[in-house]
Amino acid sequence: MERTLAEGGVLFLQVGATKDDQGRLLPMGCLLLEHLRGMGLTLQNRVIWTIGHGLTPRRRLAARHEVALILSKGEPAHFNVNAARIAQKQPGKRAFKGPRRGQLSGHPLGAHPTDVWNDIANIGHNHPEKTGHPAQFPSALVERAVRLYTMPGELVCDAFDGSGTTTATAKREGRSFIGADLFYEDMRAQRLAATRMGTVCKLPGVTDESVAVWQAEAVASGHIAAGASKKTQQLVMDIC
Ligand SMILES: C[S@@+](CC[C@H](N)C(=O)[O-])C[C@H]1O[C@@H](n2cnc3c(N)ncnc32)[C@H](O)[C@@H]1O
Repeated sequence: MERTLAEGGVLFLQVGATKDDQGRLLPMGCLLLEHLRGMGLTLQNRVIWTIGHGLTPRRRLAARHEVALILSKGEPAHFNVNAARIAQKQPGKRAFKGPRRGQLSGHPLGAHPTDVWNDIANIGHNHPEKTGHPAQFPSALVERAVRLYTMPGELVCDAFDGSGTTTATAKREGRSFIGADLFYEDMRAQRLAATRMGTVCKLPGVTDESVAVWQAEAVASGHIAAGASKKTQQLVMDIC
């Protein structure tokens, strides 16, 4: 992966835990990080993906997170933060000091995303994306990585593509795709055939509440006439 990664490209490496040859627990992120750094890759983030369900061991805490290492070759060519913003906890919050005192302090498109991804369900038996693959990942996980670090038309590669989660996500997001797996070829082909390219680019940090707050602000500051229709208000907001 390091050899074929383009300059500015990003490796999103989802890692779990394994056991060493003496049966001791070994998180793979710890095992691999120094090797990956030794190849010249730069660690950008260590994402904690929290999961709601899993095995419950008898004498140990139940593992309810997985880790993704995000590494780049040089500086990442893209960081499309707006594609991964999260809802503001208080969209109406205002600066209480400094030159922006009294003004809305948040970003209109939502808060800066963090390295804790706690809004993505893992694939349990009743998950709508469930295929016959025993270790399938949710599309939402791949989608966030693809949107953050690539532009439409760019190439996404998954060498362990399994049921085709990355293939299908890349197609839906308008990216080119190359990949492999030892097995599950028919499963991937079916999934790809059933996937259509998306036509909507979502802004996940924008909520009805935040839009209402910023529209009210635009009216109050005279950017939008108080009597303007909702359509005009939306248009002005879009331009802003
Ligand atoms: C955790 S699963 C990936 C699941 C996939 N992300 C999905 O959502 O379906 C890991 C995959 O790696 C594949 N695999 C294991 N060793 C491999 C190898 N040497 N070359 C290619 N694929 C391999 C397995 O067949 C398995 O499908």
